[in-house]
Amino acid sequence: MTSSCPASGVALQVVENLTGSELLAWRLTMLAEGGEAASFDWLLDLAAGLRGPERQHLWLDPERAVVLQCSCEQLAGLWRQHLREHTPLQYLVGLCPWRDLELQVAPGVLIPRQETEQLVDLALELMAQQAPDSPAHLLRWADLGTGSGCLAVALARALPTSAGVAVDCSSAALLQAEANLLAAGVADRVDLQLGSWWGQAAAFCGAFDLVVSNPPYIPSSLLASLEPVVRLHEPWLALDGGEDGLDALRLIAAGAASGLAPGGWLVLEHHHDQSERVQALLAGVGLEQVASFADLQGHGRFSCGRRPEPAR
Ligand SMILES: C[S@@+](CC[C@H](N)C(=O)[O-])C[C@H]1O[C@@H](n2cnc3c(N)ncnc32)[C@H](O)[C@@H]1O
Repeated sequence: MTSSCPASGVALQVVENLTGSELLAWRLTMLAEGGEAASFDWLLDLAAGLRGPERQHLWLDPERAVVLQCSCEQLAGLWRQHLREHTPLQYLVGLCPWRDLELQVAPGVLIPRQETEQLVDLALELMAQQAPDSPAHLLRWADLGTGSGCLAVALARALPTSAGVAVDCSSAALLQAEANLLAAGVADRVDLQLGSWWGQAAAFCGAFDLVVSNPPYIPSSLLASLEPVVRLHEPWLALDGGEDGLDALRLIAAGAASGLAPGGWLVLEHHHDQSERVQALLAGVGLEQVASFADLQGHGRFSCGRRPEPAR
């Protein structure tokens, strides 16, 4: 029997004659070379198809036969590259679990982060609180700086009667986003645009009920101190927010007053210490109901504001 390992796309022999105890012993020899057990188990899961519950069962029934979708040699190669070059496992395997999705990721495009999952929940809560519109109203949203397309895929799936625009100035990102939108079956409802922030969403400017963005927001002076797995491999275009980290956030806030529809929401992710300054930016362009929200670690991570509706 053959199967292909996601990292290489090369047809490989499935390893069928491994017992649980052999696999667990080999796992320990791999971990003795370095790295974290959780990361190695992630590799077993995503590259070799050994899912969590099945892995747990090996401890209870070590003589059970194990089927891997990659050879141990292939897995060892990926693990050693991760240890040696700090390459993110997501890039090596080409996949990143995120919300209920398994997104495709590749070097040149930011790996979607766990905290960004919450940005979707926040945006959907705000949309659910909107006064119900006429049934004919097509909800319009934009994702500025779409990267892998994670936010665009999640919004398009959660809002089935909506149409979205996903913008990025990186063509590598747009290709990745397109692949993920196609895989999720929502590509026909999302218009991908190459360019800078609001400029590329101009066709619908003033019509967006929702605009989300997770822009680059790390102050430039902090980039050198990021973990090597990020610093050496992820695109700085996706990370570098300029001197105070707010360069992109300023531009996105500046376009909101004309880009949003009256009553439309702008929902932003930002650095853990930027809530107050982002709130000031949003209030400064005339948005109302400005508020910030914490991530699961308790850090102020998201801010939002709403374009006022005309007085009746
Ligand atoms: C932090 S990443 C976020 C990617 C994705 N939305 C996510 O949450 O994982 C920021 C994204 O903004 C894009 N970007 C940077 N400058 C931009 C600009 N001027 N206009 C549009 N996109 C830009 C980067 O290419 C990158 O994909």
